[in-house]
Amino acid sequence: MKAGLWIGHALSLLICKLIKVSCGFNTEACGDSAMKGALLLLSSVTVLLQVVRGCPEKCRCHSTSNSVDCSQQGLVEVPPDLPPQTLTLHLQDNQIRQLPAFAFRSVPQLTTLNLCNNSLSNLAPGAFHGLQHLQVLNLTQNSLNSLEGRLFHSLPQLRELYLSSNNISRLPTSLSEHWENLTIFAIQQNQLQQLSRMLLESMPSVKLLFLKDNLWKCNCHLLGLKLWLETFIYKGGVLDSVVCASPDTWKGKDLLEIPHELYQPCPLPSSELESAQVWHLDSAHRAVPRPPESHSTAEQDHTECELKPKPRPANLRHAVVTVIITGVACGILCLMMLAAAIYGCTYAAITAQYRGGPLAQTNEPAKTEGKELFDSSPA
Ligand SMILES: *[C@@H]1O[C@H](CO)[C@@H](O)[C@H](O)[C@H]1NC(C)=O
Ligand SMILES: *[C@@H]1O[C@H](CO)[C@@H](O)[C@H](O)[C@H]1NC(C)=O
Ligand SMILES: *[C@@H]1O[C@H](CO)[C@@H](O)[C@H](O)[C@H]1NC(C)=O
Repeated sequence: MKAGLWIGHALSLLICKLIKVSCGFNTEACGDSAMKGALLLLSSVTVLLQVVRGCPEKCRCHSTSNSVDCSQQGLVEVPPDLPPQTLTLHLQDNQIRQLPAFAFRSVPQLTTLNLCNNSLSNLAPGAFHGLQHLQVLNLTQNSLNSLEGRLFHSLPQLRELYLSSNNISRLPTSLSEHWENLTIFAIQQNQLQQLSRMLLESMPSVKLLFLKDNLWKCNCHLLGLKLWLETFIYKGGVLDSVVCASPDTWKGKDLLEIPHELYQPCPLPSSELESAQVWHLDSAHRAVPRPPESHSTAEQDHTECELKPKPRPANLRHAVVTVIITGVACGILCLMMLAAAIYGCTYAAITAQYRGGPLAQTNEPAKTEGKELFDSSPA
């Protein structure tokens, strides 16, 4: 600010001097207009400086910590003129309803983003694109129903993700590619009935999991989650609790306290079993067999996609079986022929020895009896 004022003042003086020199005699009128011009210049410089280094109207900017606090301001969208060096952005307790793609393009250095207690129901697939350094994302207390598959793909440094107190009923398996450093994942107070084990496997460093108060459906489809959570706790992970909301048999029971034996493995219809196996072959990285998730449309699409090439593995299996049978039959036949040949040769040799024919001497004696006979013949 001071620098701006100083530059403005110096410029106004300079302009005044120039005008005085060029006007020569009419100095008084000229000085007046020069003063007006200087004022105009000063105000435009001030506005320019506010845009470059200033703070959005409804926010408080702390330059020492590079944090910007725009909380509780009734904002309906992300302020467009945020300082580019911002590291922490507080947007909580506003009425922001949606985020367009590249909503935070102007603050690429952001490490912490708090969007808690807004009205977010719609996040564009690329809403968080460009936030390469984001470590903490708080989306607690919004109105999110579903999340786009690739919503968090561009956040490699993410450490803490809070999605609690929304209306999320389904989390896509492809929510992230690989969250190497994610240690806290909070999704309590939502509408989840199940959670893909593969999603949890994409966060190998997770230490704290908040899954409480969802609509967990403790049927065979949740067995994968149960097994994963048991390993997670065994390795020192901290979990709040997973309390079943259905079926009636298990309502109010903790998922981890229901014994394994009481879970029936999901009865796979033969067609699904087939496609599951194809899946298994097709994608080496999906090494863990998982229960089919009939609720997710993406998976259903996948199943439909896999139904067509289904006959192929069956044919392949037939072919393999045919080759094996043919091989075994051929092998037996060859062995029999070999045995017959040996038998024939031996027989011929023995008979030749008895007759003392010269043919027998060129024949190799295959058996010890033949040798004895051969030795005794010259006598
Ligand atoms: C949520 O934000 C509104 C303002 O938009 C505020 O009045 C309310 O107290 C906040 N709720 C919580 C739980 O902080
Ligand atoms: C997210 O927001 C909630 C509500 O304001 C708060 O309790 C929680 O501590 C926040 N988490 C982080 C990491 O900022
Ligand atoms: C994870 O954190 C470590 C240590 O802070 C860092 O070196 C690494 O680059 C991070 N991984 C990713 C994918 O950003």
